[in-house]
Amino acid sequence: MTLADLKPLILILADGQFHPGEDLGRRLGITRAAVWKRLQSLAELDLEVERTRARGYRINGGLQLLDKERISASLAEPAGRLLGQLHFFDELDSTNRFLLQQGQGGDVCVAERQTAGRGRRGRQWFSPYGRNLYLSLRWHFDQGVAALEGLSLAVGLVIAESLQELGVSGVELKWPNDLFCQGKKLGGVLIEVGGDLNGDCAVVVGVGLNVAMRENLERKAGALIQQPWTDLCRQGFESDRNQLCAALIGALLPALKTYPERKFGFYKDRWESRAMLRNQSIEVHSPGQVALGVMLGVDVTGALRVMTGAGEALFSGGEISLRGSA
Ligand code: BTN
Repeated sequence: MTLADLKPLILILADGQFHPGEDLGRRLGITRAAVWKRLQSLAELDLEVERTRARGYRINGGLQLLDKERISASLAEPAGRLLGQLHFFDELDSTNRFLLQQGQGGDVCVAERQTAGRGRRGRQWFSPYGRNLYLSLRWHFDQGVAALEGLSLAVGLVIAESLQELGVSGVELKWPNDLFCQGKKLGGVLIEVGGDLNGDCAVVVGVGLNVAMRENLERKAGALIQQPWTDLCRQGFESDRNQLCAALIGALLPALKTYPERKFGFYKDRWESRAMLRNQSIEVHSPGQVALGVMLGVDVTGALRVMTGAGEALFSGGEISLRGSA
């Protein structure tokens, strides 16, 4: 059963109300047995359908589905002018992979579900249907990757500030580009580059944000995320995913356009004001090496500044954790 077969049923159940099996069959023009089969398949998408004998079926709490027209219509300028094509998919392997292979500058890709969502360092990004946000944006730069130093940190900051405007305060940034809230992972950024790394290059900025992971997803999320996690709804987010998506596109496209002139220096102080683990004893994990020290902050290129036993050191790659916690 494909997602295209299931979508009409999902659209009905998205209202969160009970629907008797007979009504569903009539509205979809299929037999009750076919309705039953489709309801079973929703479990494979991690959509939990509640059933009562008297009232029928519902998705408890409903679903706020993404709507391409609503996202485009709510885009503020200048993003509306900067946007190329908005590609929307119910299901895709990875929005980053898609834009890297076939996007143009200014294109944006959003999916309701990813079957091979990519995280940093080759990790898998948990991407269940209809609950979170999987968003990628492609932009072209003509001065090679060197001009993009610190971009992933700036992207994290722009997201944190957009979330603040949407009512989610206290989003922290964990170097280099993880989004945290109350010490738990809320989202992440994965930047991938194609083209000529020394000249005309295409950058794909992928943003994954946990939005509304219902209880039925908790076990799977725990196993895949492998660290404490949270989502926007648990942090007081009340508006819908379309608005969130439009707000992020609206903030990120202009940030990408202006990055070559502004560079990371423009964002540095605001980034540091949200930095997690600042002034704390940390471990810096980079391939084949672990360094210990106190996190001082970042420099104008986004490199991590750490006071080690041998003096101040700069790190431009790797991951950090509180000393003794990894
Ligand atoms: C991280 O590991 O923290 C970064 C995760 C980035 C996930 C997003 S979801 C949208 C885009 N498409 C992908 O395949 N990955 C990124």
